[in-house]
Amino acid sequence: MVICYWINKAKTAISIINEVKQLKAQSNSNSNSGAAHQAFPVIGNSQLEASTMERFLIDIAREKPIRFAPSHLAAFTLNFSEELGSGSFGVVYKGRFPSGVLIAVKVLNRSSGKRMEEQFMAEVGTIGRTYHANLVKLYGFCFDPNMQALVYEYMENGSLDKLLFSDLSKTIEWEKLHEIAIGIAKGIAYLHEECQQRIIHYDIKPGNVLLDSGLNPKVADFGLAKLYNQSSTHVLMSGWRGTPGYAAPELWAPFPVTYKCDVYSFGMLLFELIGRRRNHDANLIGYSQEWLPQWTYEMLKKNELLEMISYCKIPEENKEKAKRIVLVALWCIQYLPAKRPLMSTVVKMLEGAVEIALPPNPFSYLEANNLNSAFNSEIDGNYDSSSSSIKPVIQSSNCKIEIIS
Ligand SMILES: Nc1ncnc2c1ncn2[C@@H]1O[C@H](COP(=O)(O)OP(=O)(O)OP(=O)(O)O)[C@@H](O)[C@H]1O
Ligand SMILES: [Mg+2]
Repeated sequence: MVICYWINKAKTAISIINEVKQLKAQSNSNSNSGAAHQAFPVIGNSQLEASTMERFLIDIAREKPIRFAPSHLAAFTLNFSEELGSGSFGVVYKGRFPSGVLIAVKVLNRSSGKRMEEQFMAEVGTIGRTYHANLVKLYGFCFDPNMQALVYEYMENGSLDKLLFSDLSKTIEWEKLHEIAIGIAKGIAYLHEECQQRIIHYDIKPGNVLLDSGLNPKVADFGLAKLYNQSSTHVLMSGWRGTPGYAAPELWAPFPVTYKCDVYSFGMLLFELIGRRRNHDANLIGYSQEWLPQWTYEMLKKNELLEMISYCKIPEENKEKAKRIVLVALWCIQYLPAKRPLMSTVVKMLEGAVEIALPPNPFSYLEANNLNSAFNSEIDGNYDSSSSSIKPVIQSSNCKIEIIS
């Protein structure tokens, strides 16, 4: 019985795969309007029926995103009737595939053009091939003279900032926040270290981390910065990228930018996660707690880190874990990118797999007021993504990790 069951299952799976291949071949042969169209033909209406849609979802998981027409998106979202929110890239609407699967449709505010179309498809192709439990899945997209949009999996609990900076944060178990931190770090580590083509996010912040029904974190909006490189949006406006407060110093200064800018932003996010408050609190102007990262380092210097952790109302039994997060955050926001750890190292640090040395002062540049020379010394020391003159070492009694930048 069991053997028959599995043989039948295998047969069904093979027939689905064959059908998907046939449908794709059909779509490709129907389309002859340029390379981009051939690579991403618009899905046919008949293929959108609930039964075949499931097969396409299987297809997406394995290969590449589906291309939709504006009319499909209008149907999925009941004419864009339910807005989930909006950001610098456009407005996000709630929708549903014919199969019942919930989706979020981000309609981008940007202009089109033939060259843009090729660029858009190339980037979407890269984003769509990422697959990780801690990344929001891209189901498909729309590129039309009248509409450019991205179709993502729907995340029931919205963004992390809404959880952290509202009364909801008081209800969430501290242990869950620790798990959220590790999940986000794993998602970014995948983008940096495991994708065929390294993806730099450029805009890591609590607003770009979404939570599913089980409050599992998934990083959103990765790859968008590159999509926007050709146009003038917040990403590259007068040389500025990212979001103030999270963006690494090299993003606002004329210095080389690498994937380490995401490590910096992740560090800033960690402080907010520990404090369950924004790093900069205008209500505390004039107090040392006004800017959480700098206050944290001052408390560490005075050997009063546990006091800082008590201020953040972290239960006694979690204080050691909280201390670990704080130390990781201080390593991540080091001024020199080379001093910041790799995200895979960050994951190990957060999980407690390695001991963490005391971080150097991330704010010494403010005191020395020597921004340029700090960066120049790094560039002279063979600055690139695979080597660096500066290799801080984290030591523990039973292990030693070298942070290679
Ligand atoms: N996949 C999704 N599932 C559920 N809600 C989503 C999804 N994507 C976005 N949202 C909601 O839409 C809101 C707006 O998202 P959007 O990414 O456009 O703006 P942002 O993240 O606030 O800013 P930025 O443009 O800098 O990314 C989010 O805060 C979130 O509540
Ligand atoms: Mg966003």
